[in-house]
Amino acid sequence: MSWHELRVDGARLWARLEALGEVGEVLGPNGERGNARLALTDADRDGRDLVVGWMRDLGLDVVIDAVGNVVGTRAGTDPTAAPVMVGSHIDTVRTGGRFDGNLGVLGGLEVVETLAQHGVATTHPVSVAFFTGEEGARFQPDMLGSLVYVGGMALEDALDVHAADDGARLGDELARIGFAGPTPCPVASAPHAYFELHIEQGPVLEDEGVTIGVVTGVQGISWTELSITGQSAHAGTTPMRLRRDPGYVAAAINTGVRALATEMAGSQVATVGRCEFTPNLVNVVPAKVTLTVDLRNTDEALLQQAESVFTAYTDALAQEEGVLVERRTLARFEPVEFHPGMVDLVEATARRLGHSTRRMPSGAGHDAQMLARVCPTAMVFVPSVNGLSHNIAEHTEPADVTAGANVLLHVVLATAGVRA
Ligand code: GLV
Ligand code: MN
Ligand code: MN
Repeated sequence: MSWHELRVDGARLWARLEALGEVGEVLGPNGERGNARLALTDADRDGRDLVVGWMRDLGLDVVIDAVGNVVGTRAGTDPTAAPVMVGSHIDTVRTGGRFDGNLGVLGGLEVVETLAQHGVATTHPVSVAFFTGEEGARFQPDMLGSLVYVGGMALEDALDVHAADDGARLGDELARIGFAGPTPCPVASAPHAYFELHIEQGPVLEDEGVTIGVVTGVQGISWTELSITGQSAHAGTTPMRLRRDPGYVAAAINTGVRALATEMAGSQVATVGRCEFTPNLVNVVPAKVTLTVDLRNTDEALLQQAESVFTAYTDALAQEEGVLVERRTLARFEPVEFHPGMVDLVEATARRLGHSTRRMPSGAGHDAQMLARVCPTAMVFVPSVNGLSHNIAEHTEPADVTAGANVLLHVVLATAGVRA
């Protein structure tokens, strides 16, 4: 068989997605099966153990680095050649699905297993990676493991990040689950290329009836945590004109960033995803509110504009209400453009395999945006049913999963060097 005719085993890939989906499974009211594998929790450890076991079963050389990134490598014929890397993450948000991240990692394993099954040798090694803490739901920033991997954050700083929920220290959690590996991070030498298969996590491909999204880049991300301190008071006795109410300010910030995004239009989005009232009681004007604001735009200048409008608006609100606002940046990444040659390769490969394609930026953050700092990088998207993600109802049809994995297989073959 010519390597052009090689295809992945979609059923085998689906079975692995199902098996990993059973680790840290959470069930929805209508029987939806989602995942809660927040980074470095016991569930994340169990997922890691399962995937590392599969890597070892496939005979990969498994390396775990100091921030817990895991890379399994199938050797190439040229011992001096850098690996073609595929990967993503297996941590999830607390209400995550079975595909976000998992597809890129298990799609990578399927690529390697397909090569092995058909005895295909590549010049470059092929590596399958999963990176620590991509989601940023527990430890910020998001894409933390891949950021450290490419030298964008000092290892010591990463290990010292504390969890948003229980305050646990990342380095301690890594050791606790047995994934503080011996290999230095950042990586000593960059991969030859990096490809990530991922679900779109939005509605565009499904709406347009397109199978493969050719990802041109990732939009910029700005995460801020605001702590608003006011005056706790009795809800029945304190006249409205005398209140210094951080709950009111938090609500106004939420509606304000919504209006900001609507007015800016284009790709601008804005979300208040976390909001905690203290003391959180029915009859007490809150003393303090902590909330997060997530702003994103594909254009760096427009993202900066959104940030400054948001800051000025918040300052004015704080002054008007007499509250103190303290800000902490949780993540800030500029928009990233992927490698034009690799983007063209994804598009040409998908079309050669008979799939409809559409070029699109990614709305979500991905490990690929970090790998793009050190090697030619591109991504493959497949449709998300109803555009849902970060939701336990997240779903992608098996045929689309297989289509995406075949595109991944063939961009790897084209890049890793295989005899015609
Ligand atoms: C991370 O995956 C994000 O886009 O929020
Ligand atoms: Mn993801
Ligand atoms: Mn995600």
